[in-house]
Amino acid sequence: MNILVTGSNGQLGSELQDLSTSFLNFNFIFKDLPDLDICNYSEIENCITTNNINAVINCAAYTAVDRAEEDQQIAQKVNSDGVFNIVKALSKVKGKLIHISTDYVFDGNGYLPYQEFDQVNPIGVYGNTKRSGELSVINSDIDAIIIRTSWLYSAYGNNFVKTMLRLGGERDELGVIFDQVGTPTNAADLAKVCLDIFSYNNESNISEKCQVYHFSNEGVASWYDFAKAIMAIGGVKCKVKPIETKEYPTPAKRPHFSVLNKSKIKKDFEIKIPYWRDSLEECISKLNNK
Ligand SMILES: NC(=O)c1ccc[n+]([C@@H]2O[C@H](COP(=O)([O-])OP(=O)(O)OC[C@H]3O[C@@H](n4cnc5c(N)ncnc54)[C@H](OP(=O)(O)O)[C@@H]3O)[C@@H](O)[C@H]2O)c1
Repeated sequence: MNILVTGSNGQLGSELQDLSTSFLNFNFIFKDLPDLDICNYSEIENCITTNNINAVINCAAYTAVDRAEEDQQIAQKVNSDGVFNIVKALSKVKGKLIHISTDYVFDGNGYLPYQEFDQVNPIGVYGNTKRSGELSVINSDIDAIIIRTSWLYSAYGNNFVKTMLRLGGERDELGVIFDQVGTPTNAADLAKVCLDIFSYNNESNISEKCQVYHFSNEGVASWYDFAKAIMAIGGVKCKVKPIETKEYPTPAKRPHFSVLNKSKIKKDFEIKIPYWRDSLEECISKLNNK
């Protein structure tokens, strides 16, 4: 199988690059801007045909949640039109797709972990554009999987873990929101799941038209709990103080509750998911060894 990874220099794409050396049965082609812009259809089509691509893992996205409130057009172009381009090009070669989406398609007013069939209702531009991207996949005729994930971090790129470690080293005290609850996800674990899905059951895995799955690490945390764990595991002596969302206003509204139910992905692909704190330890030790 020849797998194209788009947006390959981001958090998830970089973890896929690291992991690719353990999946020698696949040929990987890693592409990101400026070499491959998913908003440019002919670039995508050309890359897929010249490299005989039969599967894509789409990690390319506009992920700046707050900036998206102003940059609506660009966010829509990447998160929706770009996904449509990939689907259209894959449809011509009957290729398979794993597309990554987000917990931000939900409004966060629930109190039970969200299941794949629960009503979506994004409350911001980023979530709206990601939902629109999901619909491009759902309405297509290709064999595809959409994986919604949450609170992604990694040893690569910019993320909450690295920000907390940096700020924790500079300050004695930090206020972190305790009234938004979700599950942190190590991008390395998500990368592994994407490749396990392609390996599962001799490639006959993505056979039904389009399936939506939820994936995060196990357990539940507030951003406050997450920050406390980062400081403890990272050995940073900074006091973390719980604050309310209203004390930290941001341009984009965020869901208050975005825990995902992962029963379906665990059952269909027989996977075990690590507890979020254990995966956080893995990431911080990877950061320390970099
Ligand atoms: N980060 C989170 O907390 C989170 C949570 C839930 C779901 N997700 C989803 O998980 C997926 C992976 O996220 P991530 O955190 O790995 O994202 P990321 O680190 O922001 O990486 C995205 C990559 O896509 C690239 N890109 C942007 N526009 C592109 C275009 N037009 N064509 C090709 N590549 C383009 C970016 O390049 P530049 O850096 O140059 O723009 C970047 O390298 C995304 O679908 C995201 O929506 C993320």
